[in-house]
Amino acid sequence: MSRFRLFDLNPAQHDAATTLEGPLLILAGAGTGKTRVITARIAVLLGHDVPPHQILAVTFTNKAANEMRDRIKGMVDDAKGLNISTFHALCLRILRVSIEKLGYKNTFAIYSEGDQLGLLKKIINRTSAQDENLEPAVAKAWISKAKNNGWRPPEDDETLVGSVYRQYQIALKQLNAVDFDDLLMLAVRVMVPARRKRAERGDKSRPGCTTRDRPKAGITQHRTRSPSPEPVASSEKCRNWLRAT
Ligand SMILES: Nc1ncnc2c1ncn2[C@@H]1O[C@H](COP(=O)(O)OP(=O)(O)OP(=O)(O)O)[C@@H](O)[C@H]1O
Ligand SMILES: [Mg+2]
Repeated sequence: MSRFRLFDLNPAQHDAATTLEGPLLILAGAGTGKTRVITARIAVLLGHDVPPHQILAVTFTNKAANEMRDRIKGMVDDAKGLNISTFHALCLRILRVSIEKLGYKNTFAIYSEGDQLGLLKKIINRTSAQDENLEPAVAKAWISKAKNNGWRPPEDDETLVGSVYRQYQIALKQLNAVDFDDLLMLAVRVMVPARRKRAERGDKSRPGCTTRDRPKAGITQHRTRSPSPEPVASSEKCRNWLRAT
């Protein structure tokens, strides 16, 4: 049972929290009640008998995830089964179950920054020509940016960074290891084919809600279309980016 009272929300918050169909984007300034809307919407969904295990709330930081968990506990009698976590924790859970589809073992290790730099140093030493100089930390930053754009390594050796990126990914896989950016990128690679299959079957998306900070106070609510299942961007995009920079 929910202890939450909808009259604790202002009209825009109320409208967002009680919209049960389709995805929503909430654009609102810092401290204007975004988390309150999300937690209220979860309480409303539970009040409509949506099973808790079908509700997922994802945040960027552990602090925000804990805050959301604590607030929901104060709003409903039974919050058991709700999935509230950070993006990285969620992706880790997905990969522990599904990474074998990508050729890794599910006992994979997560590389620390030191592990990454050590591996990159070895690869750079054996790859760079005498007149080339690439700091492992610089290579790490470039690779991280490429991964966050969903770009796989280029297939040729046109640039040193591109070549190092490709060898780094091969080495990580051989070592059955992933880095922090892989957690997100590989989870997307696992999920996109499944999502595409669901779309082909015509499955409807469940209610969704995203919040973004915007500079001015006040809450604006937009109904959004569920994003179409994009394939992970190709290695060609990474190659073009490295060429241009
Ligand atoms: N309609 C409301 N009535 C009373 N208090 C409210 C209302 N909406 C939000 N608050 C209070 O305002 C504060 C900020 O709300 P909340 O944490 O939900 O905002 P936020 O947009 O998620 O903030 P942040 O940008 O820091 O993540 C909280 O103490 C919350 O209880
Ligand atoms: Mg918040």
